[in-house]
Amino acid sequence: PRSMKVLVGNRLPQFTKIQSKLVKGAFDFIGLNYYTTNYVGSLPPSKGMRNSYSTDAQAIRTGVRNGVPIGPQAASPWLYVYPQGFRDLLLYIKDNYHNPTIYITENGIDEANNKSLPLKEALKDDARIEYHHRHLDALLSAIRSELAA
Ligand SMILES: *[C@@H]1O[C@H](CO)[C@@H](O)[C@H](O)[C@H]1NC(C)=O
Repeated sequence: PRSMKVLVGNRLPQFTKIQSKLVKGAFDFIGLNYYTTNYVGSLPPSKGMRNSYSTDAQAIRTGVRNGVPIGPQAASPWLYVYPQGFRDLLLYIKDNYHNPTIYITENGIDEANNKSLPLKEALKDDARIEYHHRHLDALLSAIRSELAA
């Protein structure tokens, strides 16, 4: 996108015409990793700030707004459970990138290791079952939405 070219400037690698031709449309599928969703706010660059991959978006991301998390928090501090975001992302890709073939290459949740929890209890794995159940529901909802469109 033009906005990216303007913001990233000469840190963006230049492709030759041949390289561009080789890359354009040359994918078999999109490999999508989905774990969580963030709120995003504007973060204009401050004076003297060095531009980098992490500042180029000029955005601040957070899983919490007005003290309320977007969903239950996993063991990883950045991972809030939000299956609706999975559905929204799938439909966004479909609508904005000509409905490509998508493989879900990563999705899941982590839990804190509790050494005093008996193995038999730990293997019940209710949080992970619930996470995948809700994300598969969101996936199904996205597929059904596509069929209805
Ligand atoms: C760990 O498991 C034990 C045994 O079930 C439980 O009493 C304790 O609350 C758990 N600790 C945490 C941090 O979840």
